[in-house]
Amino acid sequence: MNKHKVHFMLNGNVTELIVDTNERLIDILRDRLGLTGTKAGCGAGECGACTVIMDGEAVNACLILGASLENHTILTIEGLMQDEKLHPIQEAFIRHNALQCGFCTPGLIMSTKALLDETKHPKREEIKQAIAGNLCRCTGYEQVMEAIEDVADRRE
Ligand code: FES
Ligand code: FES
Repeated sequence: MNKHKVHFMLNGNVTELIVDTNERLIDILRDRLGLTGTKAGCGAGECGACTVIMDGEAVNACLILGASLENHTILTIEGLMQDEKLHPIQEAFIRHNALQCGFCTPGLIMSTKALLDETKHPKREEIKQAIAGNLCRCTGYEQVMEAIEDVADRRE
């Protein structure tokens, strides 16, 4: 199997790795780097559990090959905390009970971050669209949307 050397920014750190041609970002994060906050669900781009932010956009880490990471920037849920403090989106999810089993939560939070980085005060429809690829079996989404609206309101 071919090997590729790649350099990319991961949660603010320059990262260099040798990856196999068919090695997926989700496996690199979880199995090689121990960043297990990003969840592995369907493995087929359907559930959003593996959502990370690549160059400012929410993407499914199960669909990204490690060999394509050269010069890109990846942010995972582990990169959100600053000075040991939860990110405001994480705090809002807790405040609104927007999680139950929590399996979908890192992915939902990363989709939310990508949305709020782009859109200051998203409308309900824009929120729905932004999290449409993140399946949650527990919450019914109402608390999730309230949490997202709350973060947007509080930062104004
Ligand atoms: Fe990547 Fe489901 S594990 S979308
Ligand atoms: Fe359980 Fe979303 S909180 S799947």
